[in-house]
Amino acid sequence: MRVLVLGKTGQIGHELCKLLDNKGITYHAPDRSELDICDSARLQICMEDYQPTIVVNAAAYNNPVMAENEPSRCFAVNRDAVAELADLCNRMNTTLIHASSYRVFDGEKQEPYTEKDPTNPIGVLGTSRLQAEQQIRERCPKHIILRLSWVISDRRPNLLRRQTEQMIKHREVYVTPDQLGCPTPASEVGRVMMAILQQVDCGAEPWGTYHYCASEPVSESGFAEIVIAEASQVWELKVRKLIMAKMDSREGFKPPANATFECTKILNTFGVHARPWRNALSGIIRHYHEEQEYEKQEYEKQEYEEQKDN
Ligand SMILES: NC(=O)c1ccc[n+]([C@@H]2O[C@H](COP(=O)([O-])OP(=O)(O)OC[C@H]3O[C@@H](n4cnc5c(N)ncnc54)[C@H](OP(=O)(O)O)[C@@H]3O)[C@@H](O)[C@H]2O)c1
Repeated sequence: MRVLVLGKTGQIGHELCKLLDNKGITYHAPDRSELDICDSARLQICMEDYQPTIVVNAAAYNNPVMAENEPSRCFAVNRDAVAELADLCNRMNTTLIHASSYRVFDGEKQEPYTEKDPTNPIGVLGTSRLQAEQQIRERCPKHIILRLSWVISDRRPNLLRRQTEQMIKHREVYVTPDQLGCPTPASEVGRVMMAILQQVDCGAEPWGTYHYCASEPVSESGFAEIVIAEASQVWELKVRKLIMAKMDSREGFKPPANATFECTKILNTFGVHARPWRNALSGIIRHYHEEQEYEKQEYEKQEYEEQKDN
């Protein structure tokens, strides 16, 4: 197996690369400075030079608010580059594993979404995700599209970090009680991708679209209460009150109210069980705290050195 990982500095790419390292699997993971996926000529050269058997695309434009203001940039990364990648994979008989999102749905369904539910994205980001999926299905039959719910980790902007940062800085934090999701640790996504990679490498041909999220759906406000309990073990939090806000007040438009998935298909096909997110939360928060403390100390050390020099 020779894996090309795109998006190595992101939440998912980072965790997947760690697992590939641990398992001693051969992979190549250029960062954006080495390979901008929108540069189709360089993408082709990279594919031809490395000759991967499997490509994992975890590179993406991920900001829903900015996407409304710069749709062409969002579509260039999320749709057009993915279409190009799908073409290249097809021509080279390479499997494409692509991370997609709950944003292909409008979130109006009352139960968890299945792979058979009709899509209906809201906004530019969701539309770009759906169009990427369509491009992959049309151009590269050997594909796995893995739709994910909320992804959390100690790096990059995500729900957990956003809430924690606000709780450290502000007495009042705005949360939405009517948005439901399954916070899925990026390490879990890495584990699931690893399971898929290994089965594809063994000759399985389970092409198609799959849903994965951690078990135990929770509202954004319910999640915030649990984050307060965990984060207050390591931080002096300022937050005293959670303010219940309308869903559309943060992103400028209404994000999908329901980001929960039915994960039976991935269980039956790959034997992947959805694990509860709560077990991982304390570890992620503690690691995030350690990183922040380290950065603070490094900053203070640098300031001290600068003052000494002056
Ligand atoms: N985050 C979520 O809550 C969530 C939820 C559902 C699904 N997903 C899916 O999971 C995938 C990855 O999510 P994530 O949370 O790991 O994302 P992330 O942390 O935002 O990372 C995105 C990665 O893409 C890279 N990238 C962006 N534009 C690029 C370009 N033009 N060329 C090359 N690399 C580029 C970034 O590089 P830089 O470091 O240089 O920016 C980064 O490595 C996405 O496809 C998304 O649909 C995410």
